[in-house]
Amino acid sequence: MKKTILTGLRPTGNLHLGHLFGAGQNYVKLQDDYDFYLEIADVQALTDNFNNPEKVRENIKEITMDLLAIGIDPKKVNIFIQSKIPEIAELTVFYSNLVTVSRLQRNPTVKSEIAQKKELFGNDGESITYGFLGYPVSQAADITIFNGELVPVGDDQLPLLEQCREIVRKFNSIYGDTLKEPEAYLSKTTRIKGLDGNDKMGKSLGNAIYLVDSEETIANKIMKAVTDPNKIKKDDPANPDVCMVYYYHKLVNDEDSLKVVCSECKKGARGCVLCKKELINKMNEFLKPIKERRKQYEDNPELVKEILENGTKIAKDKAKEQMKKVRKAMKIDY
Ligand code: TRP
Ligand code: SF4
Repeated sequence: MKKTILTGLRPTGNLHLGHLFGAGQNYVKLQDDYDFYLEIADVQALTDNFNNPEKVRENIKEITMDLLAIGIDPKKVNIFIQSKIPEIAELTVFYSNLVTVSRLQRNPTVKSEIAQKKELFGNDGESITYGFLGYPVSQAADITIFNGELVPVGDDQLPLLEQCREIVRKFNSIYGDTLKEPEAYLSKTTRIKGLDGNDKMGKSLGNAIYLVDSEETIANKIMKAVTDPNKIKKDDPANPDVCMVYYYHKLVNDEDSLKVVCSECKKGARGCVLCKKELINKMNEFLKPIKERRKQYEDNPELVKEILENGTKIAKDKAKEQMKKVRKAMKIDY
């Protein structure tokens, strides 16, 4: 029997290169050999966007089209909407008894998200909601309601997975062996850096290239990318290893061209403007088939709707089955 994979994405914005070269590549690679559930985590997105429901609603469609565009095959992957499966919310309530508040406060991912919010909005701890603090519990329900064994994620999600494993162990020790402990499936490529040289490409950091960006937008963004700060004049020799333009060349350019970029840069035989223009062309070429695939879905919104409905139906059946087991184990199968 095929092993089960579960992963999720918050629908709060379009996919960018960080997603594509991070976990996204794994989704496409793994889809052939696993029973794959891909959750559009609208309930989780609402934990810190509860006052912006339109954004979440709009991005469900957007992110689904992005996923299809990067090559997720809906015949192989069940893409579903979290809120359409209330069993997940039910399981979250049961799990919430198995986690202490202080353990959640110590979760490194939650901690850094809270710190980021404070920085962005000047929030103090007072404004952190019960729902947001508890989202790792809900994420544990996402995974285990499908008996997820493998979870393809970025390394920022590891503390959430550890928390899930703790909940599973606690559940099994109290109610008997019922749940499987999931494992992370990490991407070989570590996180993708931002245009500004930041270690992480992210929406809130404003340093991302989106799959849906127009050719013009991509050109503008790349023209502003950070290069070797020591290169002042066009023919100054420079170090490509500290240049974001070279960094992206490595993602989308071929081996031979890379060697040329590298040696010319080091010799001072290449200006940054030309180098950026070459990258713009390569990047747009790289994204073209992805955009073309996306366009087929943009032109047929009913197809996207159908894909989500089908995926949700299959996921729902599986979740119901698991809840029966959970209720029995917890002796609430009245
Ligand atoms: N927390 C993940 C993120 O912010 C999204 C997510 C929701 C998820 N449910 C999940 C990831 C289950 C893995 C497994 O991107
Ligand atoms: Fe970067 Fe290219 Fe300029 Fe070298 S020539 S610093 S690789 S943009």
